[in-house]
Amino acid sequence: MNEKLLAALNDQFNFELLSGYYYLAMAAYCESENMRGMSHFLVEQAKEEYEHAMKFYGFINDMDGRVTMKSMTEPKNDYGSFLEVFEAALEHEKLVTSRIYNLVDIATEEKCYPAIQFLQWFVEEQVEEENNMKDIIFKLKGVQHQFHGLMMIDKELGAR
Ligand code: FEO
Repeated sequence: MNEKLLAALNDQFNFELLSGYYYLAMAAYCESENMRGMSHFLVEQAKEEYEHAMKFYGFINDMDGRVTMKSMTEPKNDYGSFLEVFEAALEHEKLVTSRIYNLVDIATEEKCYPAIQFLQWFVEEQVEEENNMKDIIFKLKGVQHQFHGLMMIDKELGAR
């Protein structure tokens, strides 16, 4: 596989792991504030990011590339509100989406048809990822920090 494409896929493998790390930090914040449902949702999100990373791991290996691990940056550990947590999550997902689109552009430039095909799953997944966060933000804005409303959202997210 082309060097530039391989490096970009490997970067995304690492970025998906980093995403999981970020979500785990958000989960720990919610847990510390007794929002167990939100914490559960974010732990599940972190696990999903690990699965995303492993899809890249598998594909790179299938294409005879070499996976390499990079260092991770420290995530944000404290937030001012639960709304702030999910707004940060949405911003993060938008960044992931732009990275996936960039990968599709590189794969297209390099005429790497297996990579273009492989990345389609992520293009669709990102629509869902962003929408999940937008829904939660909409609800959190609606309850405006009221305890009862927050508990309802917490319960709903705990069912993920
Ligand atoms: Fe793997 Fe949430 O993007």
